[in-house]
Amino acid sequence: MTTESTDTASVPQGTMQRSSRDAGAMASRVAAWLATQLPEGADPEVSLSGGSDANGMSSETILAEVTWTEDGVRGAHPFVVRMAPSADDVPVFSSYRLDQQHDAIRLVGELSDVPVPTPRWLEPTGDVLGAPFFFMDRIDGIVPPDVLPYTFGDNWFHDATPEERRRLQDLTVAAIAGLHQIADAEEVFAFLDEHRDRDRGPTPLRRHFEKTRAWYEWAARDAAFQGRGRSALIDRAVAWLDRHWPESDVPGNVVLSWGDARIGNVLYRDFAPVAVLDWEMAGLGPRELDLGWLVFAHRVFQVLAETFELPGLPDVMREEDVRAAYAEATGVEVGDLTWYQIYSGLIWGVVFMRTGARQAHFGEIELPEDVDALFHHAPLFRALLDGVGA
Ligand SMILES: Nc1ncnc2c1ncn2[C@@H]1O[C@H](COP(=O)(O)OP(=O)(O)OP(=O)(O)O)[C@@H](O)[C@H]1O
Ligand SMILES: [Mg+2]
Repeated sequence: MTTESTDTASVPQGTMQRSSRDAGAMASRVAAWLATQLPEGADPEVSLSGGSDANGMSSETILAEVTWTEDGVRGAHPFVVRMAPSADDVPVFSSYRLDQQHDAIRLVGELSDVPVPTPRWLEPTGDVLGAPFFFMDRIDGIVPPDVLPYTFGDNWFHDATPEERRRLQDLTVAAIAGLHQIADAEEVFAFLDEHRDRDRGPTPLRRHFEKTRAWYEWAARDAAFQGRGRSALIDRAVAWLDRHWPESDVPGNVVLSWGDARIGNVLYRDFAPVAVLDWEMAGLGPRELDLGWLVFAHRVFQVLAETFELPGLPDVMREEDVRAAYAEATGVEVGDLTWYQIYSGLIWGVVFMRTGARQAHFGEIELPEDVDALFHHAPLFRALLDGVGA
């Protein structure tokens, strides 16, 4: 998710506490554990450092360099470690399945041509660092920045030519299409549809929605909000989405959903995706889930830029262009994305509730009277709701 990223738009000098973990002490424990995973005599040494500043630097993404001996030669290897958030850090999600992320990335690597970092060693128990983690290969590439949003200018994506931006956009849509073309997704990725065997609704999208609704209720109950945790915008969205269920939720339209499908979660080289990142919201559902999110995520940044009287990038990720590129890649014409954009707005809202609660926990902000004031996407979310009469 973008999580705290857009906070910088309103609090440019803000310092954001991400984690209470101590990277130094972690490294030696990880090295001892890696010694049990690597061949005897590998004698691994580990150094750890924070993730990239421009995109989140959430405590869950750590750069690692591992040096070990192989065939008598000592060599250093770059990795990225993905770690489950600590319960003490006010996590975004009520439950977190790092093993499922690991499996999803591995399966995408095996079953498609979509570039993902090869996942490596998984520590699923939490015994080593107090929370599960896994290693993945570190890929060379650049990401359109979230901080400040790439629509604000002064970054490689904004400075590119319209043709280069279009190339990036179309190749990103093609990568999403590649994910959606993995056959038998409903069986292969059944583990992502946790409530499949429980009575949570008849389709993957219904279960996705019910899970989101339960997550919102959990976020709203957080003690930090002192009983004022309900969001008027989210309540409007939930009621409208429920009553206007999309026609695209049909049995033939169930694919692997990447879940956080936005260009800020892709590493690029020469405007082509070289790694699709951030699988913590992966699930199952209609193709439109990822496409609506992709369009919505850009519109949030576009509206933010316009709020600061900047032109932004109005020619990027227009819904009709995304639909056309997707049809070109798959032969499938997807329907209107309005329902899915509103659903994206709902999920973003819950994420901002959680990151708001986290910032309050670390003393960085005081929670506003009105939860909706935490939503950096509120102007767009409200406009979408007004537009459908919700
Ligand atoms: N395998 C990788 N190789 C190289 N860089 C990576 C890799 N994985 C993550 N990164 C870097 O870390 C950043 C954050 O990664 P990712 O989006 O997966 O984490 P996140 O915790 O969800 O962050 P956010 O909440 O900001 O989206 C990426 O933008 C990228 O710069
Ligand atoms: Mg990310």
